[in-house]
Amino acid sequence: MNNIESYILNGSRVWRGHLTKIGGQRLDSPAPFFIRPLNHNDAAAMGKLSNDIYRHLNPGEECFIHQHTPAYYHQVFANPDISYIGIFRGEQLIAMSNLTLCRTPRDFAAEIPASPVNFFDRPGTLIAAFGADCVKPEYRGNSLNLIMTTCRLDLAREKGCTDAASIIDRRNHWNMPPYFSNGFNMFATGIDPADGGKIALMHHDLHRPRPTQPQPGINIPYDRFDIIDRLLEKGYTGREYNRQSSGITFTFSPEYQRRRQALPQMAVWIRTKGVAHV
Ligand SMILES: CC(C)(COP(=O)(O)OP(=O)(O)OC[C@H]1O[C@@H](n2cnc3c(N)ncnc32)[C@H](O)[C@@H]1OP(=O)(O)O)[C@@H](O)C(=O)NCCC(=O)NCCS
Repeated sequence: MNNIESYILNGSRVWRGHLTKIGGQRLDSPAPFFIRPLNHNDAAAMGKLSNDIYRHLNPGEECFIHQHTPAYYHQVFANPDISYIGIFRGEQLIAMSNLTLCRTPRDFAAEIPASPVNFFDRPGTLIAAFGADCVKPEYRGNSLNLIMTTCRLDLAREKGCTDAASIIDRRNHWNMPPYFSNGFNMFATGIDPADGGKIALMHHDLHRPRPTQPQPGINIPYDRFDIIDRLLEKGYTGREYNRQSSGITFTFSPEYQRRRQALPQMAVWIRTKGVAHV
């Protein structure tokens, strides 16, 4: 995997790595990229990237990623709880993603709809919700979202978060390795009340070390939604994604099942901010 260096520049954390492929072609010599937090000066580039991503979506993906204008990105930075990071090749923005701090169950329901688990059952909970993941099509194949997810976990820890969470389109197997490889668990599935999309809910307990030994588990193709739903109901948790088999490994570990809320489900996605969530 890409060797990423992290350092502090002008008070902000930045990262540096190398692209090995462009347009699906392997490069003779790796090309450097860097990752930094985005700010309102990047709004025009973010609008352009958003437009590019939207034009290249596969059929059916439109409800998972939203097209936004530079004006939208300008106003996003007025909210101190939302941070974006971007990957640059030279001056060109080639990928971006975000992190939104969720301080209350209401904030969390706005970002991660229909979660059957109330993560605020523990005192001091502060959740980083990850979203808006996108990589310009010609730069895919460099694991850039996996890298951005690792960087966002660094940021989440720096911000004092206890947990990180995200939602993934269940058919989007390209976005599974970035989360599973970074220690996220698939703890539930559902229907996004905003647009009817099939979503998988992912969670990472930032205070809990990952098991070092491989866990015995069952590998299920990612698109066997019915079997996966039944396993999750029975107390299994999705732990790993295998690119060769396109399967998710589930292990029996009912910790999420135990934390399922007795309260009515937080099924209402309160679109307070109109923010794109993935
Ligand atoms: C999800 C996404 C960010 C992953 O991009 P990435 O980090 O560059 O992906 P990877 O480097 O892990 O790609 C691994 C392989 O899958 C391919 N791949 C990745 N995304 C793909 C896509 N949307 N369609 C077809 N192939 C894709 C890559 O070309 C690469 O192939 P290779 O190994 O033959 O070179 C990217 O697909 C994307 O921007 N999608 C549109 C926005 C989106 O769906 N966001 C997530 C919503 S849940």
